[in-house]
Amino acid sequence: MEPIPLTKAPLDTTDKDAVLAALDNPRMEGGGTYSIEAEKLLEKLIGSPCAMLTNSGTAALDMAMILANVTSGDEVILPSYTFSSTATSVVLRGATPVFVDIDQHTYNICPDAAEAAITDKTKAIIVVHYAGVACDMERFLDLGRRFNLMIVEDAAHAIGASWHNHKLGSLGTLAAFSFHATKNISAGEAGALMVNDERLIERAEVILEKGTSRRQLIRGKISKYRWVDMGSSFLPSELTAALLLSRLNRLDEINQSRLAVWNYYAGHPKIQSLLKSGLIEMQTHSPESSHNAHLFCLLLPTADIRDRLTQKLKSMNISAYHHYLPLHDSPAGQKFGRASGSLRNTQNISDRLIRLPLYSELRNDQVDFILEAVHDFLVGEGTGA
Ligand SMILES: Cc1ncc(COP(=O)(O)O)c(C=O)c1O
Repeated sequence: MEPIPLTKAPLDTTDKDAVLAALDNPRMEGGGTYSIEAEKLLEKLIGSPCAMLTNSGTAALDMAMILANVTSGDEVILPSYTFSSTATSVVLRGATPVFVDIDQHTYNICPDAAEAAITDKTKAIIVVHYAGVACDMERFLDLGRRFNLMIVEDAAHAIGASWHNHKLGSLGTLAAFSFHATKNISAGEAGALMVNDERLIERAEVILEKGTSRRQLIRGKISKYRWVDMGSSFLPSELTAALLLSRLNRLDEINQSRLAVWNYYAGHPKIQSLLKSGLIEMQTHSPESSHNAHLFCLLLPTADIRDRLTQKLKSMNISAYHHYLPLHDSPAGQKFGRASGSLRNTQNISDRLIRLPLYSELRNDQVDFILEAVHDFLVGEGTGA
């Protein structure tokens, strides 16, 4: 069997054509026609009043924390089980990330733990829709209203997923998408900030454009643009935007093909038998939400079994990986942040979770091969079951 990577971008001839056409365009810098078209498409796909392309999901989170007016002395609540970027956006503002636990079934930030962590310094809560599975947005939007906190969605994994018929990324005041190479829609390195409160759009444009009023000039509202606020260089180039646009145009097709692979995995007799025997657990989501097949992950009995299975799969040319190491007890997490409450589920999921290969072109016979190996290991040598 040929090597099976963890993930693979869905390359199409239309992608190549789009990038070549963009190369012929004399305008390469961000904010051109490809960027504008991709932003309009994102607004339509997500149901948001404003999308701004950024050069990464990290950059979109950085912008979000500036727009939320997070500053020194403030606290922002976020899950410990996430990527460093969720926390660095807070730390770059001189504020303190407060790490809370995740739910043991959904692997998403636990609303009770978040509520218990609120202090008079709390400015915002960043919810992370892990694997494109929606957080309990009813609870978080309610917390936002009751405690006057901004709810920001880290929707890095979640393009196309939804909650109660609302697309993820349209629910928080602000939301960040990632179009990194590992994501369902990839442009190598790119992201987007969704500005769902129209009152923040004008300032977001300034922050996006290196702190200047350049967008006002483009609209013909002023004759010279100048430095008016803080900001940075957050725009992706037109080449990136062209690739992104080409793939966003196929969002539904890409997500549907990933879902077909995901459903084949989940309904597979080997998975069903491992679930029945209690040797694995799977992430759950509420019936009101629909995920986007961003990850196919399993929870194994112990960290040791997970690590040995990973090695075994590697020896068979199958790429499988653990995921986040908890942020709260990482070197930077201890230096810049603090933990609130028990982080038991975070540690448990981090120790035991394995991600199996998932991408549009993964064939059923490859999934059969992967699951045969997983099943044999867990039933035989791995657990002594
Ligand atoms: C939950 C989460 N947030 C943010 C990011 C950062 O996105 P990017 O790599 O586009 O900067 C990632 C990246 O994988 C992520 O997993």
